[in-house]
Amino acid sequence: MDISEVIKVKRDGGKLSKEEIEWFVSASTSHEIADYQISAMLMAMFINGLDDEETAQLTIAMRDSGEKPDLSSIPGIKVDKHSTGGVGDKTTLSACPLAAACGAKVAKMSGRGLGFTGGTVDKLSAVPGYVTALSEEEFFDVVRKTGISVVSQTKNIAAADKIFYALRDVTATVDSIPLISASIMSKKLALGSDAILLDVKCGEAAFMNDIDEAGKLARTMTEIGARAGKKVVAMITAMDQPLGKAVGNTLEVKEAIEVLKGNGPEDITELSVSIAGMMIYLAEKAESHEQGKAMAAEALKDGRGLMKLKEMIEGQGGDPAVCDDPDAVMGTAKYSRDVVCKTDGYVNKIHGVTIGLASMNAGAGRKKMDDVIDLRAGIILEKKVGDAVSVGNTLCTVFADDETKLEEACRTAESAFVIEECAPEKTPLILDIVTNGSI
Ligand code: URA
Repeated sequence: MDISEVIKVKRDGGKLSKEEIEWFVSASTSHEIADYQISAMLMAMFINGLDDEETAQLTIAMRDSGEKPDLSSIPGIKVDKHSTGGVGDKTTLSACPLAAACGAKVAKMSGRGLGFTGGTVDKLSAVPGYVTALSEEEFFDVVRKTGISVVSQTKNIAAADKIFYALRDVTATVDSIPLISASIMSKKLALGSDAILLDVKCGEAAFMNDIDEAGKLARTMTEIGARAGKKVVAMITAMDQPLGKAVGNTLEVKEAIEVLKGNGPEDITELSVSIAGMMIYLAEKAESHEQGKAMAAEALKDGRGLMKLKEMIEGQGGDPAVCDDPDAVMGTAKYSRDVVCKTDGYVNKIHGVTIGLASMNAGAGRKKMDDVIDLRAGIILEKKVGDAVSVGNTLCTVFADDETKLEEACRTAESAFVIEECAPEKTPLILDIVTNGSI
C-alpha cells in the first residue's frame, strides 16, 4: 500500500478499511514508514475522528503488534482493572485484594509513575523485598497460589502504542477519544484477562474534565471490549481532589493497608469496595454488582482482603509484616512539615494536579523516566473538600528525606487548597457505570 494514499483517505474525512488500518499499524511497527508519515496519519485521525468500527480495528491491530501473555494456564476468570489516572489512586492495592479474596483471579501488570501521577510498581517497591520483575512463570505461579499478583510490565505489550504515544505526545494529538481508547484498550486486551474494569476519572485532575466527555471515553472503550469479545465495564468516578488522604509511595501503601483494616478514608474505601464488587461480579462470583459489593465489604470487615494482600506480598518476596506495622517495616521520611491554614472557612477545592506536583517536588515522583525517587516522600491531606477549617489548622503535612525539598513542596501544596466562606455542595464519587450491554 502507499502511505500517502492511506493518509489521504483519513485527511479527506473518509473511512479507513480494515486492511488499511492493519497495514498502517504493521508498517509503523516494522518502521517501513517514517515517523512524519505516522504523525500525519495520527493528526488526520485526531481531526476527522474514527467511527466505532475503525476504532475497534485500530485497537485490535495495535493489540496484535506486540507480545501477548497467555493466561490460560491460570484456572478461573481473570479480571483486570485500569484507572485512567488519578492523584492518590491506590485502588489496585486496596480493591484488587478484596476481589481476589472473593474468588476473582487478578493477574495484573502495572507501570511506573511519571510526572505528577504515581505508578503502582513504585508503590509496591516501597515494600522491602517485593519483586515486581517476575518471570512469566513466577508471575503465573503467584496467581495460581494466591489468586493475585501485581508485576511490572516486562513484555513488549502493544508495540505500536509505544510508537504512536511517543509521537502523539509531541504533536498535540493526545486528547482524542478514539486514540486514547485504542491506546488504553490495546494494552489491556493484549494482557489477556477475560474481563476488564475501567475506572474512568472525571474532573479537573483527569484527562476528561466533564461527564459528557468521560461518558464518551467510557462508551468507546466498552464498545471496543464488546467487539473484542471481552466483558468490559467502565465506572466514571470523580477526580476533583486527590483520592484518600495519602499521596506518595510509602504513604499510599500504608493507606491501602488502612483501608483493608477498615480504618481508611471514606472516599477511597467506598471506591475500593465498589471496584472490587464489580470485579467480583465480572468474575461471575456474584449475581450483581450490589452482591459483589456486599461480598467485598464482608472481606474487608473480616480481614480476608488484608490477608490476600499479605499473601501476594509474601509470594513476591516482600515482608508480609508490612501489613501489621507499615511504619516499622517501610520506615518514615526523615523530615516533615505542616502546611497551616491562614483563613477560616471551608475547603472548597484541593487541586489534584497541584498536590501531585508538590509530592513530586518533595521527591516522590520522577520528572524523567530514569530519575531515582524518594519512596518515603509525599503528602498527607489532613483536610478534604467540605471540611471546616480555622486559622492554624493543619491542611496537610509534607514528608521528605531531603529537607531542602520541603519548602518548595509546602508552598506548592498550600496553593492547592481553595478555602471559601461557605461549604461546597457534596457531590458523588461514583458518577456513572457504563456496561454497554457486555454484562
Ligand atoms: N493513557 C494511555 O495509555 N494512552 C493514552 O492515549 C492516554 C492515556
